[in-house]
Amino acid sequence: MNFLTGFEAFVRRNEPLAMHTWFQLGGPAEYFAEPRNQDELVAVVRRAHDENLPVRMLGRGSNVLVRDEGVPGVVITLSDSAFRKIDILDNTITAGAGARLGRVVTTAVHGGLAGLEELVAIPGTLGGALHGNAGTHGSDIGQWTARATVITDSGELMTRDREELVFDYRYSSLDELVILSAQLELHEDDPTELAKRMQKQWIVRKARQPMGHQSAGCIFKNPPEAHAGELIDQAGLKGTRIGGAVVSSRHANFIVAEPECTSQDVLRLIDLVRNQIEQRFEVELEQELDVW
Ligand code: EPU
Repeated sequence: MNFLTGFEAFVRRNEPLAMHTWFQLGGPAEYFAEPRNQDELVAVVRRAHDENLPVRMLGRGSNVLVRDEGVPGVVITLSDSAFRKIDILDNTITAGAGARLGRVVTTAVHGGLAGLEELVAIPGTLGGALHGNAGTHGSDIGQWTARATVITDSGELMTRDREELVFDYRYSSLDELVILSAQLELHEDDPTELAKRMQKQWIVRKARQPMGHQSAGCIFKNPPEAHAGELIDQAGLKGTRIGGAVVSSRHANFIVAEPECTSQDVLRLIDLVRNQIEQRFEVELEQELDVW
């Protein structure tokens, strides 16, 4: 039996990952799994565990750079509608980790539930957001999270409650292999007011960030008491280019990939920026982007 046996309907070999990420760069995954239900998901996780294959979860690829040589092992994505359900009951939203964060936010707002509207323009899935505690200056996904259902790398289903979860700036203690779903506890508010707040956030973000370009989110975390984007801007690095990778002229903490760009170009540009900021300000920038 090889890894694919019995999984042919939802696992593919040598799947190019570029088309699954916002950067649209990088090589293939050895195996790419799109399970259609929880049983298939658990089965693929268990088999990978038994065969000692590394497993990575991919959301919508908005915070991931895949290396040009690709990724060994299994990449799993929860793109099936089975993992994207969003339900509201009283002031609680229950959503599958494959749901787009933007859909979760707008569902809450239209249902008159406040808390998530600040997160409107953050790309990616709920699972990805929970994995890295995505947020803005005023709010993050972790602060609303009451419970999450996860699957361990050996295929065991578990519930993690708020008391045992820790969220901090771009840090989440939800570190099991798979985040399957979560419950977010919000508070009631007027849907019209909420929609206005959401629209305002959207406009601000669109003006400040290179949305719609071939890029990911911010490359670096903000260092304590500073903004990575501001430091990179002050160092005069906007527009700096290596191959097809360019530091965005709109927001300096973004890298835009132009035609012919490779992942190696982006990695070299990240190194250049990090070195320049260290030399100039004695600040060590920590990467936010996940490099596979
Ligand atoms: N700034 C510059 N030049 C630039 C970019 C920013 O001077 O090129 C200055 C701005 O003028 C502002 C300060 O830096 O005074 C902060 O900029 P901004 O409000 O854009 O926020 P940020 O700290 O750069 C953070 C998150 C973003 C999130 C925004 C919106 C991080 C690393 N970034 O950006 O999240 O969308 O706040 O609230 O925490 C992400 O995590 O991928 C991401 C994009």
